[in-house]
Amino acid sequence: MIPKIPCRLVVCVSMLVLILASARDNGFAMDESGCFTCHQYPGLTRPETPEGFRVFHIDEERYLQSPHGKTDCRKCHTTVNKVPHVGETAVNCTNGCHLAEKDKKLIADFNLKTMHDNEQFYITRLADGSACRVCHRLYPHKSNELARAFINMHVGFMTCETCHINREEYTNIDYEWTGSETADFAGKPFGARFNPKLGGESETGHFISRISVFSEENGEKKSLHNTWDTEKAEAYLAKADQWTSAEKKERLAYFHKDIHKNAVSVTCHECHSTDTILDFEDLGFSSRKAHDLININIKGLVTKYKIFYFPDMFR
Ligand code: HEC
Ligand code: HEC
Ligand code: HEC
Ligand code: HEC
Ligand code: HEC
Repeated sequence: MIPKIPCRLVVCVSMLVLILASARDNGFAMDESGCFTCHQYPGLTRPETPEGFRVFHIDEERYLQSPHGKTDCRKCHTTVNKVPHVGETAVNCTNGCHLAEKDKKLIADFNLKTMHDNEQFYITRLADGSACRVCHRLYPHKSNELARAFINMHVGFMTCETCHINREEYTNIDYEWTGSETADFAGKPFGARFNPKLGGESETGHFISRISVFSEENGEKKSLHNTWDTEKAEAYLAKADQWTSAEKKERLAYFHKDIHKNAVSVTCHECHSTDTILDFEDLGFSSRKAHDLININIKGLVTKYKIFYFPDMFR
């Protein structure tokens, strides 16, 4: 038998080294630790409290303008030395800095949780009128620790159905932009806030346009973004505590009848590979961006390797 795992590890570790190494060449000034490779994306989030979520995006430009813009990330984040590093929250403010007596009070009085507030972009409201959103929040993914933040960020680019429609049931489908959807942002507005084919970016930052699924029936395009079950979903929720568990199961099966859930590995590959289900250029992405999206290495980070320790050469 071929020893599979060590082989895979070597490939993936070298891949990450490559990604981190190339990440150092582009972008702004210094990202010695390669943190922006992943943290550059607006909308990187994970749900936390019943309503709230935590944001992991750090905007490079804003960071560089911040009081700590010249400080390497790992100077404070001394416990982050491998990927994944889920749950590594401890920050050290006195790692060679703020050692003077007068700084003690400064640090004690500072609300650490607000440290990156100014550098984080995410969607605070997106009213798409769908049944899904009656029951699910905007950034709903939490079970896959490694991939959840990346999956959540896609909700700003596409409707739920774009990933979750049952493609075995719907074979004749097409991907196109939604019209303008109302959205509010924290930080700077981002994403495709316009249908690139129609041209013209919305100036106000209160709109977004996303990729969605359409079916062809008798030559007519029908949106499969489920807005027809929205009232039923609201009615279901209003009486949520009255249903028996059998009734619940039956209703939920109804709301999910067109929906399936693929494994992360399958899902990322469906778009970020040469077998992509999306024709990126046809959707209006430049050929360079299309090439980048097809060849993006980042999916390896959430699907292939196990644990990767940051090499010292980035010190
Ligand atoms: C001056 C110290 C300092 C530097 C430098 C720093 N951070 Fe942070 N970072 C913090 C503190 C403090 C928190 C909040 C920790 C908490 O909530 O307990 C934090 C939190 C975070 C979080 C979690 C999300 C959040 O807002 O709580 C991420 C992600 C993060 N930092 C990434 C980075 C990246 C990437 C860099 C480099 C570009 C960086 N940090 C540089 C101090 C720093
Ligand atoms: C391979 C991608 C990747 C790289 C490289 C990366 N991060 Fe992260 N980081 C993530 C993801 C994804 C999360 C969110 C994890 C989750 O969903 O809980 C995260 C979360 C964090 C958090 C919050 C941890 C917590 O749960 O409270 C901090 C702090 C952080 N990163 C700092 C850094 C720093 C500093 C660097 C550079 C030394 C770095 N990251 C490099 C992907 C990455
Ligand atoms: C009436 C409320 C309701 C509506 C409407 C609804 N969901 Fe759900 N959904 C739930 C609940 C509750 C669960 C978790 C219980 C379960 O596993 O069935 C769930 C689970 C899921 C899962 C995980 C299934 C799995 O196998 O783990 C996915 C994916 C999902 N929903 C997507 C959607 C999408 C996409 C829509 C819109 C087309 C939608 N849901 C509409 C309530 C709803
Ligand atoms: C980029 C593709 C993508 C998009 C867009 C997307 N999902 Fe998912 N979703 C996934 C994948 C992949 C999983 C399986 C994660 C795993 O294996 O744990 C998943 C899992 C889920 C689950 C199970 C719970 C969990 O924590 O993983 C729910 C519920 C869900 N999705 C709802 C939604 C809703 C609602 C939307 C729209 C707001 C949406 N998804 C948009 C890819 C996507
Ligand atoms: C249904 C198609 C689809 C699926 C599935 C999908 N993506 Fe994407 N992804 C996109 C599109 C489209 C964009 C570009 C959005 C934009 O820039 O407007 C994108 C952007 C990204 C980016 C940012 C790239 C950049 O430079 O802008 C990353 C990272 C990424 N995806 C990772 C993932 C991972 C990891 C998965 C699996 C969990 C995944 N994607 C699943 C379609 C998809």
